[in-house]
Amino acid sequence: MTDAKTPRNTANAMWGGRFAAGPDAIMTAINASIGFDRRLYAQDIRGSRAHAAMLAAQGIITSSDAEAIREGLLTVLSEIEAGDFPFSEALEDIHMNVEARLKDIIGEPAGRLHTGRSRNDQVATDFRLWVRDQCDAAIDGLRALIGAALAQAEVGADWVMPGFTHLQTAQPVTWGHHMMAYVEMFGRDLSRFQDARKRMNESPLGAAALAGTGYPIDRFATAAALDFDRPMANSLDAVSDRDFALEFLSAASICAVHLSRLAEELVIWSSAQFRFVSMSDKWSTGSSIMPQKRNPDAAELIRAKIGRILGATVALFTVMKGLPLAYSKDMQEDKEQVFDAADSLMLALAAMTGMLSDLTANREKMEAAASAGFSTATDLADWLVREAGLPFRDAHHVTGSLVAMAEAKGVDLPDLTLEDMQSVNPAITNDVFNVLGVHNSVASRQSYGGTAPDQVRAQIARWRDLL
Ligand code: ARG
Repeated sequence: MTDAKTPRNTANAMWGGRFAAGPDAIMTAINASIGFDRRLYAQDIRGSRAHAAMLAAQGIITSSDAEAIREGLLTVLSEIEAGDFPFSEALEDIHMNVEARLKDIIGEPAGRLHTGRSRNDQVATDFRLWVRDQCDAAIDGLRALIGAALAQAEVGADWVMPGFTHLQTAQPVTWGHHMMAYVEMFGRDLSRFQDARKRMNESPLGAAALAGTGYPIDRFATAAALDFDRPMANSLDAVSDRDFALEFLSAASICAVHLSRLAEELVIWSSAQFRFVSMSDKWSTGSSIMPQKRNPDAAELIRAKIGRILGATVALFTVMKGLPLAYSKDMQEDKEQVFDAADSLMLALAAMTGMLSDLTANREKMEAAASAGFSTATDLADWLVREAGLPFRDAHHVTGSLVAMAEAKGVDLPDLTLEDMQSVNPAITNDVFNVLGVHNSVASRQSYGGTAPDQVRAQIARWRDLL
């Protein structure tokens, strides 16, 4: 601050009282966060308005000052939203940019806003509010995605496809069952964001720099005004932990892993060699040189997003590790990582939802593939156990010989004759052919959570109820 007695210098207008000179240009560059933390403007203004109202209610500032502050902050908000706010790097961050502008607009009362708080609890509050919103966005995005997967599952609850282990044909499953596997994964992701949101929903505001404050503030009032469940119970913890951001990033990373696996399957299934699915024009791209190409770019990019989301997670864990209590400036490095991871996750969720909604599964192709590769060999072995009384290990061996025979003849298991079968084990009867078809195979998997269409439909109904 300058007046007639203190000559104007280049020291910081907000904290430069004891400084004779301003910072080096490089110091300003490394210190400033306004380039990215301007994204917190709405949360910052919301927190400050709640703080000002509380200060007045507690008699710490006058009601007319609080009114001027609260009104002035709305003017700042509209300036930022209109895109004509004079952001200044010299003012470091969003908190000081907003306060300095408030002073330009309302004058002296602006200086009373920062009573009983510090930028340390202010930034912790703003960032919590922002991450809380992102949890809500992730929850909404996952609800939509689950809806799209459920719709696919409903259409193809009894469409047979090969189930894979080691990406080798294993046993027939249904398209609905495969889609519902992702519904389960995305459902757990959703509950992880709900859990994290619940845990982070406590207010740091009023923890002040680190030790609390001597002003008679009401932290319960500001917590309620900001829709927090309660104030955080320890001021040192309130200003210095970022575990809420780490939880958000961890949940986002797990969700991105799930997205990458579905994306990878869509890439494989849409290839000319599989053709299990076709993507609509809206979700494919062409090649500038190969006219026949229809590339699954969106799926590939979703598959890749885990790279940056997990990268952000590792980066913030690394920043936080070993920091002594309470606040250190290291923690300013929390925001860009979380911003980027959140943007990437929301985009990936929206793209996957769109792609899945527009996707056509190819029932005939999938069924033909399910019938190849001796996919019902396990059903044959199970028949030998059930109907011929063989121990499973022996049944496995007999079935292996029959697979070898079919392979030598260049046919599938159902194409062997009864005589072929009986030459390997005389106890086999015509009844065995009932279990060699893929439809019978999936229908027989009636164990809870199994691939039988009845089981799949029961799970679809359960999820429809849940949502
Ligand atoms: N821009 C800072 C951050 O993001 C705000 C808190 C600064 N506090 C301080 N004591 N320098 O963490």
